[in-house]
Amino acid sequence: DAAHIPVLCIDGPTASGKGTLATELAQRLGYHRLDSGLLYRLLGLAAERAGIDTRAPALQQPGCAAALGQLARELPLRFEGQQVWLGDEEVSAALRSEAAGMAASRVAALPEVRAALLELQRNFRRLPGLVADGRDMGTVVFPDAALKVYLTASAEQRAQRRHLQLMAQGIPATMADLLADLQARDERDRSRSAAPLKPAEGARLLDNSEQSIEQSVQQVLDWWQVCNSGP
Ligand code: DC
Repeated sequence: DAAHIPVLCIDGPTASGKGTLATELAQRLGYHRLDSGLLYRLLGLAAERAGIDTRAPALQQPGCAAALGQLARELPLRFEGQQVWLGDEEVSAALRSEAAGMAASRVAALPEVRAALLELQRNFRRLPGLVADGRDMGTVVFPDAALKVYLTASAEQRAQRRHLQLMAQGIPATMADLLADLQARDERDRSRSAAPLKPAEGARLLDNSEQSIEQSVQQVLDWWQVCNSGP
């Protein structure tokens, strides 16, 4: 019964450092990790490869949501170490682009898509435990998680971090574009009616604007220890 398998959720806006924190926590705890954003990014890319336009107004056309839901249920995805495969294409680099993030945010607003990906996400809950990050891990996917963290940082800090990441990969981008891009994405993720981005009930708020990665990791590990030390 999955209810006995511990889950630690990290939700929050774009580029708040969820991925880095979740990876680090999973490593230290020896737990599995679910990067739920990756699934929405994969779907955005799969839609593009299938010739489905995910921009408005095409997305609002009748049948489009159902087609995307179907695509989500049949996603031919495979993980091999650090590599992610979509069918016979290795897509890990393509998934990291800003365009992939935007497409992900657009398809993620559809209830059909979210329903189709629910079971897949819950299947990541395996012993000895799971660290899951995204937008609705604590609110929808794992509402019974022992610890829910809502991670934030100022928009400027987040744009700056994204800028450094992209520069390190040799991808050109301006701070102004990145800031506008992440604000647009956060706005869509927060205002949608299906599983909007918001802190889960009982979530611990963590603003890492002025924290090192190690400080955030320690903070969450401290909370984790408290919630597992029993009543
Ligand atoms: O975390 P990320 O940037 O890789 O996520 C990409 C988009 O996917 C994000 O803008 C909204 C969507 N998403 C979601 O709706 N629910 C999740 N649990 C994770 C991501």
